Amino acid sequence: MKNKYLYIQTFGCQMNVHDSEQMAALLSGNGYKLTDNMKMADLIILNTCSIREKAAQKVYSQLGRIGKLKEQNRELIIGVGGCLAQQLGTKFHKKVGHLDFVFGTHNIHLLPQMVLAIEKKRKKITEIDFHKSLNSIGVYVPPPADAISAFVTIMQGCNNFCAYCVVPYLRGREISRPSDDIIEEVKKLAGNGIREVTLLGQNVNSYGKIFDNGLNFTSLIKRIGKISGIERIRFTTSHPRDLSVELINCFAEEEKLCKHIHLPVQSGSNRILELMNRGYTVEDYIKKIDHLRKLTPGISITSDVIVGFPGETQKDYQETIDMMGKIRFDSLFSFKYSEREGTAAQKLKEKVEEGEKLRRLEQLQILQDQHTLEKNTSLEGSRQELLVEGKSRNSESDLMGRTSSWKIVNFKGELDMIGKLVDVKISKAYLHSLRGKIANN
Ligand code: SAH
Ligand code: SF4
Ligand code: F3S
Repeated sequence: MKNKYLYIQTFGCQMNVHDSEQMAALLSGNGYKLTDNMKMADLIILNTCSIREKAAQKVYSQLGRIGKLKEQNRELIIGVGGCLAQQLGTKFHKKVGHLDFVFGTHNIHLLPQMVLAIEKKRKKITEIDFHKSLNSIGVYVPPPADAISAFVTIMQGCNNFCAYCVVPYLRGREISRPSDDIIEEVKKLAGNGIREVTLLGQNVNSYGKIFDNGLNFTSLIKRIGKISGIERIRFTTSHPRDLSVELINCFAEEEKLCKHIHLPVQSGSNRILELMNRGYTVEDYIKKIDHLRKLTPGISITSDVIVGFPGETQKDYQETIDMMGKIRFDSLFSFKYSEREGTAAQKLKEKVEEGEKLRRLEQLQILQDQHTLEKNTSLEGSRQELLVEGKSRNSESDLMGRTSSWKIVNFKGELDMIGKLVDVKISKAYLHSLRGKIANN
């Protein structure tokens, strides 16, 4: 059988990254091998995102380029999956004439049959139904031989309906995956050389809420902690409202749980947080951060902020800046508010002007860079345990690893250290990475 090549491009979050891995795993059963050269591909899939307008625009411009490839090769099959595909459904075919198939976030498991049907007979397919089953998130991805780290999806959907956000409409209702399935998957990954797992869900803190057996996110972490071979556990994303005392304690109790939490705050103004439907105040948030830092000194805290949410005044914005000064995040992802179809915030009248949003964003990012550098600099001279991920991107002769707190460290080391835990002493801090030296025991 002739080799067939698959090119997948992923837009959006880590959940989409993992969904793409699952797509590739499923399509290997149809005889497709992954390529990173789009021109070589027989099948191109864009796994799309719609979180902000800019994310959607990126997808359209890439589809424009792909259209030219299709003009040269009529056999080329083109599909779109993910959140923008879920949102547009059949409208995607009308918008972009050269698409063969459109599939939504609950339909990854249907990929093999969709592609087979198109290979047999050209036709336009759309699969965007939501399913109560978890067919789509449980697909096992055999890790590549040199992989150290893997994603494991533990839940699907989101019930939070934050006023600005499309995700609940595009990923459906929150459902937790049975813990035995998760444990089995992690054991299998460990057996295949994986040392670090990142547990994925839109709101992992509410894992297990639907179960009546008392099992929750913390007990899941503890069960995973017992699996031999797994050295590190991470998770993303957690919602501040649902961050329990039990989970805060878990950072101190479970050695394998990495000392990093991504806890999106979104705003430093209680008025805006309420309009956003976030369900906590700035004071609640700071209290949880203080508790985390008290029990787990050195824990790194990262977050997301939106500027220019409808009705955000200069005063509200200043409160976000003040909060950043109090908390001092290790790093921060910040975004200009982007209006999304069908969300509650779309109906709010007082829109912030585009230029003003940009001004607020730029000022906030300058401040965050100062905080990030300050946090990194405070690690100079400290000893850190790294999980060595591979060669450094900066220099052929260096290796790169991450601290438990998610910081990148470049250092001189031997190739056989890749995949292992090593101790380094931090010699120099930069904005985006640290420099280290192997520490003698
Ligand atoms: N479930 C996760 C991730 C959501 S998307 C969570 O709740 O944290 C990642 C980030 O995108 C959000 O935290 C938010 O800061 C940002 N975001 C979501 N919708 C947005 C919008 N309409 N405009 C601008 N930023 C948005
Ligand atoms: Fe969106 Fe809020 Fe759900 Fe996160 S928790 S995905 S921001 S609705
Ligand atoms: Fe984007 Fe969907 Fe993730 S909208 S951020 S790909 S959940």
